[in-house]
Amino acid sequence: MKKQLIGGLAVAALTVVTLTSCSGTARGGSDSGSSVDIPKGSTIGVALPAKTSQNWVLAKAAFEKSLAAAGFKADVQYAAASSTVTDQQNQISGMVTKGDKAIIIAAQDGSQLGTQVKQAKDAGIPVIAWDRNITGTKNVDYYVAFNNFKVGQLQGQALLDGLAKLKGDGPYNIELFAGSPDDANAPVFFNGAMDVLQPKIDDGTLKVVSKQTTFKQVSTQGWLAQNAQSRMSNLLQADYSGSTKLDGVLSPNDTLGRAILQATKSAGKPNPVVTGQDSETASIPLIMNGTQYSTIYKNTDTEAQAAVDLVTTLSKGDKPKTVLDKKNNYNGVKTVPAIELTPILITKDNAVKEYANNSTLEALAKAGQ
Ligand code: BGC
Repeated sequence: MKKQLIGGLAVAALTVVTLTSCSGTARGGSDSGSSVDIPKGSTIGVALPAKTSQNWVLAKAAFEKSLAAAGFKADVQYAAASSTVTDQQNQISGMVTKGDKAIIIAAQDGSQLGTQVKQAKDAGIPVIAWDRNITGTKNVDYYVAFNNFKVGQLQGQALLDGLAKLKGDGPYNIELFAGSPDDANAPVFFNGAMDVLQPKIDDGTLKVVSKQTTFKQVSTQGWLAQNAQSRMSNLLQADYSGSTKLDGVLSPNDTLGRAILQATKSAGKPNPVVTGQDSETASIPLIMNGTQYSTIYKNTDTEAQAAVDLVTTLSKGDKPKTVLDKKNNYNGVKTVPAIELTPILITKDNAVKEYANNSTLEALAKAGQ
């Protein structure tokens, strides 16, 4: 590759590439890492969704820090809470027009970005889906995320473990919650959890009293806490009147877990075993005092760094090491080459140890011991 040559030749090669891009010539795919043009000092676009959970809030600083350290400028934008999808579509088109050299996208609605990622592709700009996949298009080059199916499996296992530990012998009454249908991660989390829970539903260990067990029935529009809280309150009223116990709830993340706990508390029910995800600062004290059973640790800095490392690799003209994992990363058109990180299950037993690389979380866990 020309750009890997040293000295004056490399500069000459870069100049040629830049001129080519100025003339508007569309270049081919960046899957091979061969035709991208990401000079040091150039601007990288980062399009983030609405701040429905703390991980998105943390993402901006994480990207700004790691992009700066890697020698790039950051153009980080959030979809505004009111008109999220259009807002994000406009932001991505704007990044293409401005000439950002790579675009990292955590989709607000992964099925609605086909036009924008095609614009990027036509302009020769690599597109990296981050945390959430972009679906229904071949124009997404890479996907950087935690292993979402594994997140779900860990949540399902945590629910089983928590029930055995805290609720005596089964059978156990449970309810299921999933994330938002417009987030490609949500069904993957749910399928991972059901991979563990379904056999226990089938053998009678677990009873979903409401009988609501399909993704469609249990999903939570917009990942909004109020939607989960009102569904939980309705279920309690309809199916758990009198002495019917609710032993546990599969919650896909911490924000919804706390909303579910709020609903059970308001209904005067004993604390059920509730799972979570994200290691939100509001949930760590609840985990340490036994109110919320578990969460998942997906370090946002590590996840941002993995995307920035990928940009650096591409900028050198190198081919990144990716996996093709159909179960996790098939977007309806192709299995997107991915960099997959490993999520960690957290309960009060391992919180202090696992949060050792994060002073904020470690301090919260220690304070609750
Ligand atoms: C993320 C989760 C987050 C959820 C809601 C998902 O796509 O992977 O970490 O809890 O969105 O914001």
